[in-house]
Amino acid sequence: MKELSVVGGGVIGLSVAWRASARGRRVTVYDPDPGRGASWLAGGMLAPVTEAWPGEEDVLTLGEASLRRWPDFARDLAEEGVDPGLSPHGTLVVALDSADAGNLEMLAAYLTRLGREVGQLTGREARRAEPGLAATVRSGLLVPGDLAVDNRKLLIALKHACAVRGVEFRHETVTELEGLEGDVVLAAGAWTGRLHPALDGAVRPLKGEILRLRPRRGCLPPPKRTVRAMVEGRPIYLVPRDDGQLVLGATQYEAGFDETVTVRGVRELLEGAERVFPCLTEYELVETAAGLRAASVDTMPFIGELGEGVFAATGHHRNGLLMAPVTADAAVAWLDGRPLPDEVAAATPSRRSEERV
Ligand code: GLY
Repeated sequence: MKELSVVGGGVIGLSVAWRASARGRRVTVYDPDPGRGASWLAGGMLAPVTEAWPGEEDVLTLGEASLRRWPDFARDLAEEGVDPGLSPHGTLVVALDSADAGNLEMLAAYLTRLGREVGQLTGREARRAEPGLAATVRSGLLVPGDLAVDNRKLLIALKHACAVRGVEFRHETVTELEGLEGDVVLAAGAWTGRLHPALDGAVRPLKGEILRLRPRRGCLPPPKRTVRAMVEGRPIYLVPRDDGQLVLGATQYEAGFDETVTVRGVRELLEGAERVFPCLTEYELVETAAGLRAASVDTMPFIGELGEGVFAATGHHRNGLLMAPVTADAAVAWLDGRPLPDEVAAATPSRRSEERV
C-alpha cells in the first residue's frame, strides 16, 4: 500500500487524510494537536457569495466549486459515523447606515451581474426574517445558497472518519520534510511557509479573535441563519449553532504569530455585534479565543504540486472550511495521477514564480 504523510491536522489536512485513506492509501497525519488550531476557532461559514469581492472572481469560482461539493462531503462523512452539522439556512447581510446600504446595493448588482441568487430586503423585511435585528437596520441582502457548518462537529467527524479508515496520528511538529514517508501533502496552515522554499513568504498568519455566546433565560434567541454586517468598516458575523450557542467573529489583524485575545478585539466584536443584534448584551459570554488564518497575498489558496512527491494544500485565507472538499479532491486526484479539478487551476503554487518574472 502506498504511503502518504500529511503535515497538519486542521480541516484541510484531515479532509485530505480521510479521502486518501478511503481510497486505499496508508496515511499518517503529523500535528501536535490534530483537530484544533484555526479550524477549531472558525465561524464555519460556507459563504463564497457573501465573502465575494470585485476583482476576486477566482476566489468566488473556487469557493462555489467547493460549496457544490459540500452536501456530498457532509453526507459521506455522516456515513462514516458522525454528522458534521451542515446547516441548510442561508446568510443575511445587513446594512446599518446609508453608506453600508449603498455598498450592499453595489454588492447586489455585482452578484446579480454574475448570475448569483440574491434577494434585496428592506429593513422591515430583514427584521421580519430575523426579529432580533436592530431597529436601525436599513436594508438586507439574503443569500440562500451561502451555508454554514458546525466547525467543531466537523472536526470531530473528520477525526472519527480518519480513525475508521486507519489513519495514524503522530503528535509531532514537523520542521523539515526529510524522513517523511511516501508522498507528502503540506497543510500546516499559517506555518506551511516554513516547510518549503516555494511557499516561503507566500503564506502568513492573519490573526482572528472570535467569541461564543449563549442566550440566558428570557433573552431573544439567536438568529436562525448567519447574519453579517460591516460596522465602522469592520466585518462582523453571527453564526448560530444547533446547541443554542452563537459564534461571533471575527477580528482581522496582521500580528505575526501572536494568539493573544486582546481587550480591544473583544470590545470591537461586542460593540459591533450589539449594534446589529442588540439583545446580545444580555447573553452569556462563554468563550473568547484567537487563531491564525493562513493568509495569502491574493487571498487564493495554494493547491498543487510543489515538486516531486510534494503537494501544497494551504493559504486558504478566510475560506478553509469552505474549500476543504475541493482541496481534498485535488489532493486525491494528484495522488492518483489524474488531472486536478479545473477549478483549482488558478490556485496553482506556480503563480508565484510567474509573479516574479
Ligand atoms: N471565514 C471568516 C473568517 O475568517 O473570519
